[in-house]
Amino acid sequence: MGYSARFAALQLKEKPVILGIESSCDETAAAIVRGRELLSNVVISSAAEQAKYGGVVPEIASRAHTDAIERAVESAVREAGICNADIDAVAVTYGAGLLGALLVGLSFAKSFAWSLGVPLIAVNHIRGHMAAAYLADEALEPPFITLLASGGHTAVIYTKSYTEFEILGSTRDDAAGEAFDKAARVLGLPYPGGPSVEKLAREGEANISFPKMFRGSGYDFSYSGLKTAVINYCHTREQKGEEYSRADVAASFQAAACGVLAERAVAAAKEKKCKTIAAGGGVIANGYLRELLQKECASAGIRLVLPEKKYCTDNAAMIAAEGLVQYHAENFADLSVNACAHIPLGKKGKQ
Ligand code: KG4
Ligand code: ZN
Repeated sequence: MGYSARFAALQLKEKPVILGIESSCDETAAAIVRGRELLSNVVISSAAEQAKYGGVVPEIASRAHTDAIERAVESAVREAGICNADIDAVAVTYGAGLLGALLVGLSFAKSFAWSLGVPLIAVNHIRGHMAAAYLADEALEPPFITLLASGGHTAVIYTKSYTEFEILGSTRDDAAGEAFDKAARVLGLPYPGGPSVEKLAREGEANISFPKMFRGSGYDFSYSGLKTAVINYCHTREQKGEEYSRADVAASFQAAACGVLAERAVAAAKEKKCKTIAAGGGVIANGYLRELLQKECASAGIRLVLPEKKYCTDNAAMIAAEGLVQYHAENFADLSVNACAHIPLGKKGKQ
């Protein structure tokens, strides 16, 4: 009998206490929710260590997770003011991400769930980013449009129910976060790229017209043209020995990269006659994009659910939030569940 079968007749609670664990990249995170109420949120980051190498070194990430995981979970339980016996389920990211990093969180979660005798819930990291909105607005209920913009994915999604999604459009090449990271590299800015570009952009003007690029059909995105335009702009000037403002390049890139996200999300909401847009993923932490979304949604009469910045970048609160969704769907995992480096977002269309 698989572990999940033990819970086939589980009496579901309306507001279960769920421990969320996240270790897919360079953040070791643990959080506790009771229903949609967030009781604690702990993030131990190895980003400062990774910055020395200009990006995430998987081996360093795995070792940092091993070092931090017990501390993160203990702190989350303590800060929530609960004890281990109060936990009703353990939700953990099983992918996508760095395999060695994921395995640290997953193995810990399996043993923790088993020792408590509670269900294990395997969470798709991206679904976690999408579920962060449920914590930002306790009354949020599907259907709504989800704008997802992270380091690996960029998509406009029709969230039809808690577990049914229709991808209206997604990136054909680089994700929005990846584009920020590459732009940062061209501009000689430190890792992580997104926040560095945002900071420099504040000192500049969006006065360079980079191509708006997105000639794809429907709601698809393409960031490779914008990336090439930024590289060409900087290299051409450097070769000619011409002065140029890196801050203006950052601001112009940011305006082009964010403009299309807001535009596509609002257009999708209008087409699907949705009154709400919920956003998630690291790029949604960008202050310029947040203001733009607020402005565009206000003028279109659309309600915007914007998780706080710390719940847009990687965290375990969002994993617990998606854990809650899967708990109510009774989607429990076996202890044989394995880590997965890549989980496709799904094909365009209904999921
Ligand atoms: O969602 P996330 O934390 O990790 C996953 O990819 O799942 O997203 C990370 C991405 C990185 O590419 C990072 O540069 C970008 O989000 N990012 C930002 C900002 N903060 C993080 N991009 C633009 N502005 C930011 N403030
Ligand atoms: Zn993420």
